[in-house]
Amino acid sequence: MTFFPRSSSRGGLRMARKVFAGDTTRRKPGHRAFAMDGMRAASHIAGMFDLKQVDFADKTTAYAELEKQLRSLVHGEPDFIANCANAAALLWHSLPDLNWAGVYRLVDGELVLGPFQGKPACVRIKLGKGVCGTAAATRQTVLVPNVHEFPGHIACDAASNSEIVVPLVKHSRLLGVLDLDSPRFNRFDAADQAGLEKLAAVLAAASA
Ligand code: SME
Repeated sequence: MTFFPRSSSRGGLRMARKVFAGDTTRRKPGHRAFAMDGMRAASHIAGMFDLKQVDFADKTTAYAELEKQLRSLVHGEPDFIANCANAAALLWHSLPDLNWAGVYRLVDGELVLGPFQGKPACVRIKLGKGVCGTAAATRQTVLVPNVHEFPGHIACDAASNSEIVVPLVKHSRLLGVLDLDSPRFNRFDAADQAGLEKLAAVLAAASA
């Protein structure tokens, strides 16, 4: 579902390379963090993950790389909240021009704030309300080029100008929604939607 479709957004570029270390004192100078496939095995030892640089000039390639990284992060881990936390961190540090990235979980019939990166946000959203509640109720991605034109948009951060919300569904069960906000109008396009829907499928499938 695309709300008020407009022309596609410009591709961004982020070249920063980041390495997270749970215990930096164990990291030797020049030591490369664990390879992605070794993340799960290594996570109990040092908690490091090598976040590869992703060039969003080619969104298809960029999302394919992010999918690999997400698969590695959630591999063998069924805890939905933990996986959402790592997914939010991965998206936040990889995608350009975001001011919020996170998950709302479906809890007792309403959306409840889950792991995210960005400013504090509203905690509960009823199904059918706002962009998130609409995506949850319809189980379809909602792409909003201009949030100020979306009836009932819930403004958690005044900086948001565009938004995309992707349902997280496992075996026909709605687990929640993945929500990304941007200060740029028209930030998300069909390529973002396709890429994020794949990431959402990976996240949902891994989680219990
Ligand atoms: N804008 C959302 C609310 C959540 S925040 O963007 C984090 C909505 O309209 O549902």
